[in-house]
Amino acid sequence: MQAKILVIHGDGIGPEVTTVGQAVLKKVAELFGHQFSFEEALLGHQAIVATGQPLPEDTLQKAKNVDAILFGAIGHPMYDQNPNLPVRPEQGLLKLRKELGLFANLRPIQVFEELLEASPIKPEILRGADILFFRELTGGIYFGTPRERRDNGNTAVDTCIYTKAEVRRIAVMAFQAAKNRRGKVTSVDKANVLETSRLWRETVTEVAQDFPEVELEHQLVDSMTMKLISQPRNYDVILTENLFGDILTDEASQIAGSMGLLASASVGSNVGLYEPIHGSAPDIAGQNVANPIASVLSASLLLSMSLNLKTESEAVVQAVRLVLSEGYRTKDIATPQTPSNQLLGTREMGEKILQKLAALAV
Ligand code: IPM
Ligand code: MG
Repeated sequence: MQAKILVIHGDGIGPEVTTVGQAVLKKVAELFGHQFSFEEALLGHQAIVATGQPLPEDTLQKAKNVDAILFGAIGHPMYDQNPNLPVRPEQGLLKLRKELGLFANLRPIQVFEELLEASPIKPEILRGADILFFRELTGGIYFGTPRERRDNGNTAVDTCIYTKAEVRRIAVMAFQAAKNRRGKVTSVDKANVLETSRLWRETVTEVAQDFPEVELEHQLVDSMTMKLISQPRNYDVILTENLFGDILTDEASQIAGSMGLLASASVGSNVGLYEPIHGSAPDIAGQNVANPIASVLSASLLLSMSLNLKTESEAVVQAVRLVLSEGYRTKDIATPQTPSNQLLGTREMGEKILQKLAALAV
């Protein structure tokens, strides 16, 4: 098949890991006889430096004219030290999600048997955990207005807004996914306090009526943070709003062992955006130590979800699994027992994955 893919490397470790993700896509094209053409564009700090805008018009236009986007990460420490800077890298990503209508962010959390020891959680609690998060991505407090300072800067306002339609469309997606998995949706809200959460709960309950074969449970977000790590196997599909999903999925990364392993897919319109859930990690940028697996698994999601190439997508996951089962680790998932010749840098981990992929395709 032919496909146009936009690669947005972004900031920090973004370029290092995305280079590996892109190499995997190129390898898949070569091995399975597809024609993928690649374009590149700027986003985040990189884009601010070059153009003054976190999401340049050129990037948006390119994004609207491809089949899928592989994205790295954005962010830079200079903004953390100066939270009042009016133009920030994150605005670029949020605007891109909004402009492309990517209202559903899927974050699969799987435990690789090989990495049970890499998690701070006990192996017997983790073994077999397999969760698919549906995080609402273009609504809630991330986008609500007014958002401003008042009272000479002494009062700050953010607004959390949800419409029934926004809740319904992502709930439908979550129930459809659950139907093809283990048949359970856990909807997370704060309905004991927030009006938006009461609307959320009411709407999700309505949607559930169209899916009698799927079990629905509601959880409050505070107790969910506990249950997620104390009994992760209890969950199948977890459906939640934007901010809660942001927080819970970082927590859930510890179930998989490392943030460096988790991929995500943002969908909702005709182009999908695939990115690691991790950030730009400026402390390790440029050192060839970042784990590229999240980007590789993002490429795998891109293959299955945007291009409908299921076999190719599965081969990529299998290649990662094989490399891990041979004991190779990047720094974030290494243990004190990892022999030094199996401790790999970003590029070397990428090379191993490409070799396994080639071996699988013959
Ligand atoms: C994520 C990130 C983003 C978010 C930031 C970079 C804006 O944390 O994708 O989880 O909060 O959505
Ligand atoms: Mg986040």
